[in-house]
Amino acid sequence: MARLPFIAGNWKMNKTVGEALDLIRGLKTAVSEVKGVEVAVAPPFTALHAVHKELEGSSILLAAQNLYWEEKGAFTGEISPLMLKEAGCQYVIIGHSERRQFFGESDETVNRRIKAALAQGLKVIFCIGETLREREEAKTFTVLDRQVSGGLKGLGDKDLKSMAIAYEPVWAIGTGKTATPEQAEEVHRFIREKVKMLYSQEISEEIRIQYGGSVTPDNIKGLMNQPNIDGALVGGASLKAESFSKIVRFKEM
Ligand code: PGA
Repeated sequence: MARLPFIAGNWKMNKTVGEALDLIRGLKTAVSEVKGVEVAVAPPFTALHAVHKELEGSSILLAAQNLYWEEKGAFTGEISPLMLKEAGCQYVIIGHSERRQFFGESDETVNRRIKAALAQGLKVIFCIGETLREREEAKTFTVLDRQVSGGLKGLGDKDLKSMAIAYEPVWAIGTGKTATPEQAEEVHRFIREKVKMLYSQEISEEIRIQYGGSVTPDNIKGLMNQPNIDGALVGGASLKAESFSKIVRFKEM
């Protein structure tokens, strides 16, 4: 079954509102007639509303970088699923390794966030990935197995249809060290097999698995040629219209 390629840009803690608007204007022009690829951008919270307005009439989708699972209340500094919906988001990134590493996210809190997002009708980009140490200790598959089972705990077939999984080896994020297409493919195949065991063949064939970690216009094609790599979650190279649009246009290379 052909899966629609899905390229998302994770802007992380970058771009003021003015800078975000500049970038999105550039992107709109650069990717407007690209067909057969789903494209999303994830600006910081403060730029969501402005970017949403600027995206009116465009096929580029809006994503947030995180949320909190409670509906509302005394949770200073947090953002609810409804607030993101209202700001115009269709997607939310959950479980990014920087959240796990610097902000204490666990498989359990990732799972709570995923459930809260889906309950509000937000689609989810669910991030997983091993650290360099874990890879060197040959624990990659054990770690991913735990992250997938933990993150998806209690979710049903229908939930999986509103999700993409992003495999981002932590050692490849922002380091310029990409996993080779073969290394990534091996892990993507493992993740798909795991989804098949937990759900069904159908769900496993439908779910898109993005690769993330130093994706650039130079390496995207090789990655996308792999049968189980269905897209990319792009950090650094998503901050410029030129590089991000080249990645989105990988088919033309
Ligand atoms: P990078 O980030 O492309 O800058 O490595 C990817 C990510 O963290 O999503």
